[in-house]
Amino acid sequence: MTHVIYPTTNFKDIEQINLARGEGVYVYDNQGNRYIEGMAGLWCTALGYGNPELIEAATRQMEQLSFCHLFGGKTHEVAIELADSLAAMLPMDDARIFFGNSGSDANDTQIKLIRYYMNAIGKPEKKKIIARDRSYHGVSIAAASLTGLPVMQNHFDLPVDVLGVLRADSPHYYRDAEPGESEQDFVDRLADNLEQLIQREDPETIAAFIAEPVTGASGVIVPPPGYYEKIQAVLKKYDIMFWSDEVICGFGRLGTDFGANAMGIEKPDLMSMAKQLSSAYLPISAAAIKGEMHEAMYEQSAASGVFGHGYTYSGHPVACAVALKTLEIYRRDQVFDNAAARGRHLQARLSEFREHPLVGEIRGIGLIAAAELVADKQTGQAFADGRVGARMQLECQNAGLILRAVAGNSLAFCPPLIITDAQIDDMIERFATALDKTLEFAQAENLLSGRSDVA
Ligand SMILES: Cc1ncc(COP(=O)(O)O)c(C=O)c1O
Repeated sequence: MTHVIYPTTNFKDIEQINLARGEGVYVYDNQGNRYIEGMAGLWCTALGYGNPELIEAATRQMEQLSFCHLFGGKTHEVAIELADSLAAMLPMDDARIFFGNSGSDANDTQIKLIRYYMNAIGKPEKKKIIARDRSYHGVSIAAASLTGLPVMQNHFDLPVDVLGVLRADSPHYYRDAEPGESEQDFVDRLADNLEQLIQREDPETIAAFIAEPVTGASGVIVPPPGYYEKIQAVLKKYDIMFWSDEVICGFGRLGTDFGANAMGIEKPDLMSMAKQLSSAYLPISAAAIKGEMHEAMYEQSAASGVFGHGYTYSGHPVACAVALKTLEIYRRDQVFDNAAARGRHLQARLSEFREHPLVGEIRGIGLIAAAELVADKQTGQAFADGRVGARMQLECQNAGLILRAVAGNSLAFCPPLIITDAQIDDMIERFATALDKTLEFAQAENLLSGRSDVA
């Protein structure tokens, strides 16, 4: 019996691994076994574990000013400095930043900022948000309504209708292309579908389109070249804002400052960030909007007496101090360049598995990737359930590697950005062992529907 209600867990299958400590890219369980943390926790521990500078930054800030809120006229230097540093990095016009504690609350905040803004500029009808199928934007009531994964909505009576969430196509060429369709034709079809959706719904009712530049929880989907260019052209035509959910892609994950930079997204109007903002040493998120949105809200907030939204821990000084130090280390040690170089090595090594009988697709960019396991390599037919992915995750664990099965049977890689080529090679070796064992399992259980001996 446990008193913990575990998040995103099968309540009948809990407590499989109990971690006791971490160091660099490694974590150790309470039996002393060592694992390479191939998922950087939950796509977040960019600088690995036990970084002494981050520990010192937190300690110093706790000693100096352990708490200060930002409500009603109060402020502190670290929040101001962090917002300034972020604004200077973001590929946006004059970014203004609202701090929170998680990616979910950053996305909630964005919806509220959009609503507040549209009311302020006299466009109260323009509030619907377009989100994509199989996207992940978090789990609060509003963020889970944006999320396009049924498991995050079923049994919770979501999405909430009043939010007016519309669905666009997921940009996954391998899964969703029509027979014989080229990548270019696929992108054109998705852009056409988006335009039809906008016209059907009435562009005057749609505020924004939200996208993860590269998805994480839905299986690390990297859209084909030209996708964002086409999508942004459609959105511009109808005066619909582009909202980049950078909770995973932000801060070097794709080898660039932000996912938007790597994926050819031009000047997002809104950006949501969390996770690697503090390398996950403390919870902190940032919802950034372009300056003109913020300016447009001044009168309305003055008339109401207050902009009625804020968390106790918005701009928590200790979290801000850790985030500031994290950004300083990213810059000083050229961590994003390291991620780009190590990313090329990871992608090259992973491509060696393309011929493996269990692997349908290898995909990724920078230091994020996935290997999708399929029942039939020739046709790409998926497994009927997630048993093979779950088994592969367990076999990786047995081999001393932590990976995560996402979207059923895709094994996600997202190691700390400080990983070395030698550590990547070690990870690949462990992955290869686990993959062969999982193939034996799938064969023994008769789960393969194609010929597993042909690549
Ligand atoms: C793209 C994206 N947005 C939002 C979230 C939600 O963040 P959190 O779990 O911190 O609420 C996540 C979490 O993985 C994410 O991947």
